[in-house]
Amino acid sequence: MYKSVVLGSLSLLSLLSAAYGAEHTVKIQHRYLHFPVSHSVDRVRMTLRPEKGEAIPLNIRLTDGTPDYWVFKDVENLKGKKITIEMPDHLKDADLFRQADTIPDQSLIYHEANRPQFHFTTRRGWINDPNGLIWHDGEYHLFYQHNPYERDWENMHWGHAVSTDLIHWQELPTALHPDALGTMFSGTAVIDHDNDSGFGKKSKPAMVAAYTIAAPGRQMQGIAYSLDNGRTFTKYEGNPVIDSKEKWESGDTRDPKVFKYGDHWVMVLNERDGHSFYTSANLRDWEYKSHVTGFWECPDLFELPVDGNPQNKLWVMYGASGTYMLGNFDGETFTPVSGKHRYTAGTGYAAQTFNNIPDSDGRRIQISWSRIGHPGMNFNGMMLLPTELTLRTTKDGPRLASKPVKEVEQLCHSLGRWENLTQEQANEIIRRYNGSDRLRIRLSIELSHATDASLSLGRQRLIDYDMNGNTLNGWFYSPQDPTSMTLDADLYIDRTSAEVFVEDGLFSYSLGRDLNAGTEFSLNGNRLRVPTLEIFAIDSIWD
Ligand code: FRU
Repeated sequence: MYKSVVLGSLSLLSLLSAAYGAEHTVKIQHRYLHFPVSHSVDRVRMTLRPEKGEAIPLNIRLTDGTPDYWVFKDVENLKGKKITIEMPDHLKDADLFRQADTIPDQSLIYHEANRPQFHFTTRRGWINDPNGLIWHDGEYHLFYQHNPYERDWENMHWGHAVSTDLIHWQELPTALHPDALGTMFSGTAVIDHDNDSGFGKKSKPAMVAAYTIAAPGRQMQGIAYSLDNGRTFTKYEGNPVIDSKEKWESGDTRDPKVFKYGDHWVMVLNERDGHSFYTSANLRDWEYKSHVTGFWECPDLFELPVDGNPQNKLWVMYGASGTYMLGNFDGETFTPVSGKHRYTAGTGYAAQTFNNIPDSDGRRIQISWSRIGHPGMNFNGMMLLPTELTLRTTKDGPRLASKPVKEVEQLCHSLGRWENLTQEQANEIIRRYNGSDRLRIRLSIELSHATDASLSLGRQRLIDYDMNGNTLNGWFYSPQDPTSMTLDADLYIDRTSAEVFVEDGLFSYSLGRDLNAGTEFSLNGNRLRVPTLEIFAIDSIWD
C-alpha cells in the first residue's frame, strides 16, 4: 500500500519525453470511455486531447490482451465533441476503447466481496490523501488523491465525492487532472466569500483549490477555481503561485493547507523538513513568513477551545503522521507550547480537517486516509470514519481527542446491552456475532489477576492491551487514571478494517483485518470482568 512520491516524478518525466506512435480520434456519444488494463503489462504513455481544453497525460497499463479489469473516464461534458487519444505505436491497431452510458460492471460496484461497508472507497482505482475537504451550500466535499486508471498509485488526480451527512457519498467526475505542468498532489479548498481572488463574485463566491503540481524533481503550488460547487475547476493561468525549490534546495515542497485568518489568507506548506507559513491578500500572490521544523507532508493547522471554553483556545498543528503540537499562532508564525503528542495510530495517514463548517455547527471534522487494501478488489485504500476533534484537559495537560462524528450513529442499531459480566458470559455473548463484518462493540474490560487482556477476531488481536508495558496494540498508551484496571474501547469492525477508539477518543487506532485469521470473537485474559458491553449492527452505506 505504501507509495513512492518519487515515482510520480519519474513517470511524469518519461511521460513528457514520450514519442507517441498512434492517434485515434473519437466522437463522444456516451457518458463514459472505458479502457482495458492488465497488471501483467508495463505502463504506457497516453494523452487524452479534447478538441478544446487541457490535454490529459496519463500512464496506464493499457492492454490489447485479456484485461484484469476495465477503468473509465466520465466524458459527459465532452458529449458531441471529438477527443484524440494518443498512444504508443504497438497499440495502434488495437480497438481498445469502448464508449458506454454505464461504467464497467456497474451493477457489481459497491457489492463486491471485499468492499468496505461503512467506509468511503472509490468505484475503481487507487485513493490516498483526502484533499480539499470543505462544506459548502449544504454539501460536504471530499476530494482525494486518485488514480482512476489503476488500483496502484500513479497519475495523481483529485477525485471527488459529495455527501449531505458525511456518511453516504456520491462519487462525481474527477475534479483536477494532470496537465502539462505536472500531476495533482494534495491540497485544500476554500470558499472565497469576499472575492479576494476576483475569481467569483461576493454574491456567488468561488471555491478555490490550492494544490501541489508535481513535476520532475520539482513541486510547485497551483490554484484553480470553481463556480459550480466543485463540479468543474478552471486552473489559474498564473500557476505556479509558489515555486520554492531553490529556496529550500529541495524537491519536497507540497500539500498546501489554506484558511483565512482575519483579513488575509494563510498557507501552511510542507517544505523540506517542516511546515512553512505564507500569507496572501488574494490567494494568487504569496509571501513567505516563517517555518517550523519536524513535520512531514500534509499540514493542518486550526484553533480549538480547551474543554469547549471559548476563552481558552490553542492552535493544533500536525503533519501526515498522527502526531501534533499545540501552540499559538498570530497569522504568520506558529509558536509551539508543547512537544509532539500522538492521538492516533495505525493505518491512518494524511488526515485533513474541513474548511468552512458553519459557525452554527462549529465542529472541527477530520477525515483520514487509511492505508488498507482489499484483497482481490480493483480499488485500493479507503477513508477512515469522519471524526470530530476536540481539546480536552487531561492529567498531562490539554490533549487532542478524536471520535466518530455523531452522524455515524445513524448507521448503528443496538443489538443488546449487558452489565457486570464475567469473562465467560461476555464471551458467550460476543460469539453470537461470529462472522459479522459490520459490527460495533463498545465495552469496558476490567483486569484483575494479570495486567494484559485482548479481544480477538480469530487469531488477530483487535485489542491487545499490556497494562504493565503501557502498550495498546504496540503503541504507547497510558490511561487517564494511571492505576486504572479498566480499559474503555469502542470498536467499529468493517469487512477489511477495524477502528478502535479508547477513552472517548483520547487515543485511537485502525488496523487492516487479516481475512485469513478466522471469524470467531474471543475475549482473552485471566479472570477478566466486563462492567459494560453493548453491541450494534452497522448498516452498509451503499444500500
Ligand atoms: C501523502 C502524499 C502527499 C502528496 C501525495 C501524493 O500521502 O505523499 O505528500 O501530495 O501523497 O499522492
